[in-house]
Amino acid sequence: MLPRDKPVLVTSALPYVNGECHIGHLRTYVPADVYVRMLRKMGYNVIFISGSDTHGTPIVLSAESQGVTPDVVVERYHEHFKRIFEALNLDFDYYGRTDSPANHRMTEEIVKRLIEGGYVYRKNTKQAYCETCNRFLPDRYVEGICPHCGAVARGDECDQGCGKHIEPGEILEPRCKICGSKAVFREQEHFFFRLSAFADFLSSYLDNLGGTLNARNYAREWVKRELRDWCITRNLEWGVKFPGRDDLVVYVWVDAPIGYISFTEELLRERGVDGDEWARYWKNNGATIVHFIGTDIIYHHCIFWPAMLKGADYSLPDAVVASGMVKIEGKTFSKSRGIVVWAKEFIERFHPDTLRYYLLTQSSHTKELDFSWDSFFMRVNNELVAILGNLIYRVLTFTYKNFGVVPEGEIEEEVRTAIETARDGVLSAMAEYEFKKLVDAAMGLADFGNSYFQREEPWHLIKGDENARRRCGTILKNVLQILKSVCVLLEPVMPAKMAELWYQLGMDTDVHDTKLEELMKPIESGQKLNKPKVLFRRIEVDKNRGV
Ligand code: MSP
Ligand code: ZN
Repeated sequence: MLPRDKPVLVTSALPYVNGECHIGHLRTYVPADVYVRMLRKMGYNVIFISGSDTHGTPIVLSAESQGVTPDVVVERYHEHFKRIFEALNLDFDYYGRTDSPANHRMTEEIVKRLIEGGYVYRKNTKQAYCETCNRFLPDRYVEGICPHCGAVARGDECDQGCGKHIEPGEILEPRCKICGSKAVFREQEHFFFRLSAFADFLSSYLDNLGGTLNARNYAREWVKRELRDWCITRNLEWGVKFPGRDDLVVYVWVDAPIGYISFTEELLRERGVDGDEWARYWKNNGATIVHFIGTDIIYHHCIFWPAMLKGADYSLPDAVVASGMVKIEGKTFSKSRGIVVWAKEFIERFHPDTLRYYLLTQSSHTKELDFSWDSFFMRVNNELVAILGNLIYRVLTFTYKNFGVVPEGEIEEEVRTAIETARDGVLSAMAEYEFKKLVDAAMGLADFGNSYFQREEPWHLIKGDENARRRCGTILKNVLQILKSVCVLLEPVMPAKMAELWYQLGMDTDVHDTKLEELMKPIESGQKLNKPKVLFRRIEVDKNRGV
């Protein structure tokens, strides 16, 4: 588990704000939010940060195709992402944007430090150039064939094939993304980061890096094979200027992760904390730093980023947690081919908590998640409705009708044990970054609640003599204790629904602030219950399929 004596900084990757949010993105943000909420329940002091990645060719190209300037695109989708994240209850302490003045300053500062440290040099390179459009074609402006695996690739990454980073000048058979004509290579001077100098550092760093194994292993392989220097400037107007050069901006993968630092600074400033407090998080290991990302950006977070931080003498990330990619019915996401499920449309039709639940449980965190509507309907109907919703509604309506309050009684040994087992399951899932296991542990407790209620048959006891009715009360007190515990354990997963349950249980505290210690505190006898309402409704599969 993470050290207890330091604050924890959790980040989730910064979305490019060049289009709408889809459920693929959410696989980075939802688990990060669950992780943060649970860490808080465990008593950790956490700050949770994200923001919009506003630079780079994803934005510029999207602006160009819409005939507007990049800032228009950024403005529109920055607001869009913020709204979606709010609707999903992703509870960032700060959601920034990389075009902020603080991030420009921080990026210049770090690049200057790298220059002073001798880690940056200039070199003539080949750059893709379009003779029809008369311009250089940085990154996504060019498409061609991946030099590593032969798949169709973008200028800076093999997005359809092996997933590797591609350096300028490396792509084979380049074509201009704007006009489609064959591109040529032209010589031009650019600035390079001496990544090769960090090979030894990286291999020992990666040996000790926490987080998920997929991140560490992928990066290790890459370091073992070869680390070539990294071109960190681009011919673009939009971005953070390279120090002393008005015609060049830094590559978006320089200023984007630096956003993590700038947003920490912006957050603490907003909270009125003393000016240098951010340095506690980013210098001299004053905090535990955990990055949540998808597997497509492991290279950037486990190689480029720690090398930059090391070169500029900042603290290094302690853990990188990488989720597997989301596919749709077996196919890779592709906006252009319409293989995509938009977050907005999803949450207009179904409760955001059901989407959170689905994304966490449909597959193990590091594995691919193959989305299908049928699998979503099944999880909702067979788990949220049949197991959890059923337990909640049966227990609450029965108790509400016959007692109106939490009855008298002692918590029984087997119930305590079941709660402890669920809690321990959740804690070990947290240590392994296995969010499916986390949910399963909590749902296991709901399962136990159902069989306990069924076995004890309180509906017979309530019709019996005084003794039987007393026993009935004890049973109900115990199942209510189970509900209270399930509610605390599932709050990180379904914060809105669990707040409703907390209210129905008659609790007068805020379930979002409730710590895990509360699991073992008996629910108060005599506490008034609120009128039960159905929390989860069945989805009618035939009506909703294929819409
Ligand atoms: N802007 C960069 C990240 C910079 S972090 C300093 C970026 N943006 S993104 O919009 O393409 O992706 C944002 C997050 O969503 C990333 O963690 C990425 O892995 C994740 N995903 C985007 N599409 C995805 C799927 N189809 N499936 C799973 N995760 C995916 O990368
Ligand atoms: Zn490839």
